[in-house]
Amino acid sequence: MFEKTPLAPLDPILGLSTSYQQDTRSDKVNLGVGVYKNEQGITPVLDVVKKAESILLKEEVSKSYLPIAGLSRYTDLVTNLLLGQDHAVIKAQRVGTIQVPGGTGGLRVAADFLFHVLGAKRIWISRPTWANHLAIFKTVGFDIVEYDYYDKASHQLDFAKMKSQLQQAQSGDILLLHTCCHNPTGADLSLEQWSELVDLCRAQQVTPLFDTAYLGFHQGIEQDAQVLRMCAEKLPEMLIVNSFSKNFSLYNERIGTLSVITESADHLEAALSQMKRMARVLYSNPPAHGALIVAQILSDSALCDMWHAELKMMRERIASMRHLLVQALANNKAGIDFSFIEHQRGMFSFSGLSVEQVTRLRDEFGIYMTDSGRMSVAGISQSNVKYLADAINQVL
Ligand code: LMR
Repeated sequence: MFEKTPLAPLDPILGLSTSYQQDTRSDKVNLGVGVYKNEQGITPVLDVVKKAESILLKEEVSKSYLPIAGLSRYTDLVTNLLLGQDHAVIKAQRVGTIQVPGGTGGLRVAADFLFHVLGAKRIWISRPTWANHLAIFKTVGFDIVEYDYYDKASHQLDFAKMKSQLQQAQSGDILLLHTCCHNPTGADLSLEQWSELVDLCRAQQVTPLFDTAYLGFHQGIEQDAQVLRMCAEKLPEMLIVNSFSKNFSLYNERIGTLSVITESADHLEAALSQMKRMARVLYSNPPAHGALIVAQILSDSALCDMWHAELKMMRERIASMRHLLVQALANNKAGIDFSFIEHQRGMFSFSGLSVEQVTRLRDEFGIYMTDSGRMSVAGISQSNVKYLADAINQVL
């Protein structure tokens, strides 16, 4: 039977890493996958993670299975981190969290839960979005409606258009939102716009699902979490998928959470039980190491301070690379104003380059970015920024 298997296309993001590895040019640059790199082009293990691991190594006594919902110490700490420990929904026992294998794992459990258990059939997803969003929800069977999010000409969020299209959403629809550092555009809603969106969700009876993969990469954990806290206060129901791949640099530990907020505490147990049922058939129960690391750090104020400082360092290095790139592109031959790159948030810059230009950068210069023109700014360094800017200048 396997002779009939068609070859799957390379993944639009992770496939780029494969092509980059195979490229033998010494000056190649990887701006494809959203992974933090330091000035030396390395994705280091955070010092705070090393410290937590050394404690765990001494204290760990068993590698037995975790429960389906994961480590409860970890899920409690993460709920407090996301919503703030005094949040009304925590006090009202309207929020429950399960541990999941990374953001993708959380999105898939959420998708299965919404589709198979609650009968949701339609999801609204921003255009553009992270490529895997479309793949996950399509695989589960959702009808995907894309809402326009970004104005390419002004390099900004197009909130008016987004809002007018979302007026068409109907009761029972799901609305996928990026909590902060929108992937791929780096354009986010202001708190006032979030508030308008909350009103829209209430009026249309739409349930939001927040994908939270870059918390802390705009202004810091507390500031970036404001969106979640405000929405959780005002909305009766919502879901939050959270990943620690980026902000703890724990990419290959596959560590995240899926939280559900129900209108009444009475509905929570059933919702969690169904989410666990979905998780059981997908991966049985989650891996422990990442959860133990995060729990160790979040429960120790000194380690927590260290984490915030390392996250700040990552955030600031990315911001300084944005600045360097804008400077290096200042006198480009096409006279394009690239200053918008400095206003974009998070790990990515949506460069505005066309597929043809992206292809030329890859073929002629060994510079890898997604076909959408998304650059992972974390892959830029003092040593490659000039090469990158010169190459962009040549393809403009
Ligand atoms: C990205 O957008 O590059 C990251 O979220 C990594 C991934 O899994 O695609």
